Amino acid sequence: MIFAANFKTNHTRATTKHYIEVLTQKLHAEKSDDRVYIFPPATALDRFEGAFTLGVQNAYPAVNGAYTGEIGLEQLEEFGINTILIGHSERRQILGESQESVAQKFAFFQEKGFEILYCIGEPLEIRERGDEAVMRHLLSQFEGIDVGYEKLIVAYEPIWAIGTGRSATVKEIASTHEALRQTIKKPLLYGGSVNAENIKEISKIAFVDGVLVGSASLDAERFASLVLR
Ligand code: PGA
Repeated sequence: MIFAANFKTNHTRATTKHYIEVLTQKLHAEKSDDRVYIFPPATALDRFEGAFTLGVQNAYPAVNGAYTGEIGLEQLEEFGINTILIGHSERRQILGESQESVAQKFAFFQEKGFEILYCIGEPLEIRERGDEAVMRHLLSQFEGIDVGYEKLIVAYEPIWAIGTGRSATVKEIASTHEALRQTIKKPLLYGGSVNAENIKEISKIAFVDGVLVGSASLDAERFASLVLR
């Protein structure tokens, strides 16, 4: 299983350092095929050592240049970061990233050989229209994306389940992942209110290869208990 922690706009450089110490200690005894990813805010990036991959939540598709407020490849290379989250619904909805700009970002970081955790997800009004509408929406979020890219991981995150404490049901996750698997032959993560309580049943669902966790990843001990399930 893949366990990815998305801190969003939480934690500082100091608390991230502490978090990683606690997490590393808790996961120390674990010897399994599980893979852990941590996405702290950009100000907390560093060369951390441990049995996890450190990734960036966002970056601008340029090596460097005049892009006020953005970070590019040069800033990531300083810390050996070569994993990025692209297409998260908060970036699409709150920051206004279009499919075109998401696809441009994807192409740039693909060309640089990054591992890409690519997020898709439908809003509630689409979910309420039924499975066919959901799949049409989700597949439209692959427009311009090379789904054959070898370092691609896909995260399905229904927007109405993110940060709401209301995860999608096992049935909803199962049917969506099964349908996605027909097109996407890459690891498929589920995200949206995953926590230490529901991880057991979610991890057993067919075609769920891992989880992307927001709120329940913010506390290192809670996230460790989720990984150790
Ligand atoms: P959540 O966030 O776990 O708080 O629902 C998940 C995500 O947005 O990646």
